[in-house]
Amino acid sequence: MAESITVVGGNKKDKYSSLIPQIKALVEGETDVIANLSNIMAALKQGIGFLWVGVYFVKGNELVLGPFQGPVACTRIKSGKGVCGTAWKEKKILIVPDVDQFPGHIACSGDSRSEIVLPVFNKGGEVVMILDVDSDKLNDFDETDKAFLQEVIGIIEQIV
Ligand code: SME
Repeated sequence: MAESITVVGGNKKDKYSSLIPQIKALVEGETDVIANLSNIMAALKQGIGFLWVGVYFVKGNELVLGPFQGPVACTRIKSGKGVCGTAWKEKKILIVPDVDQFPGHIACSGDSRSEIVLPVFNKGGEVVMILDVDSDKLNDFDETDKAFLQEVIGIIEQIV
């Protein structure tokens, strides 16, 4: 695995473009899921500078907190609850420009203003995990984040 990451300055697209190959290198040759997810979350936080980035695992009828970077967070989320529980139930990517306008948003951190949530699927098409990324700025996520974070989801789907 790579020992460190370096992200070039510039716009978000440049940062993601330089980060994604490094994320691939980070997980290369390592099979432990928690170790790999931990490093992927650290690379995303370090490389792009989100407020909070982490995963929740599907366990029974709940999401349970997994590796993350950022302020402490709620540990369990029911299906259909909050942005994460809704993305899980509806099996789709959600971009929320203003969390205060999302009915039932779970405010783990009072600093969170916008977020993007992406489901991770197994080969059978079931959601096994949720990637949750939060920003302290309103309207901070767009199609660029969606496209590059989908690439990250692709990497995660290879290693779980
Ligand atoms: N914002 C999430 C809760 C998780 S924390 O933000 C880490 C939600 O409403 O699903």
